[in-house]
Amino acid sequence: MLKETIQNALNAQLSREMYSSNLYLAMSGYFQSINLKGFAHWMRLQAQEETTHAMKFFDYMLDRGGLVSIGSIDAPPSKWDSPLAAMEDALKHEQFITQNINALADLAIKEGDHATQIFLQWFVTEQVEEESNVSEIVDKLKLIGDWKGGLLFIDNELAQRTLAPENSAQAD
Ligand code: FEO
Repeated sequence: MLKETIQNALNAQLSREMYSSNLYLAMSGYFQSINLKGFAHWMRLQAQEETTHAMKFFDYMLDRGGLVSIGSIDAPPSKWDSPLAAMEDALKHEQFITQNINALADLAIKEGDHATQIFLQWFVTEQVEEESNVSEIVDKLKLIGDWKGGLLFIDNELAQRTLAPENSAQAD
């Protein structure tokens, strides 16, 4: 059985992961609208990955005999000033998610909930990867500046993205 404090915090994170999915889907739409199909593809997969993250919280709470409660989810923006502005927003968002995962891990320790601590370890590791991936794209965009050829090169690179098995819809 989950303590109410833990359950409330897990439900809040479930909603944040769903917001993340909506945010990246909105970014995918933005990139598609400016014909950066590689960026659009990368963000579309990112949105799918976030849905998988949300479902991990959903399944975990139910496995622990908890109650899932889906909170209200804010609408994400629908356009950005530039590809760099969008990716910088994505990085800021991932840093915000990392802070929340760390706060959740602190709470699980405080409440002596060992199972939740172990469950959250996957997310602690995942956030290192998430921030690193987005940060790399931000750095490359800064490097190319206004050079359009460089932008197309990054777009081609992002078009190659595939989902890691642990983030595919089949993972439990
Ligand atoms: Fe679910 Fe991008 O962290």
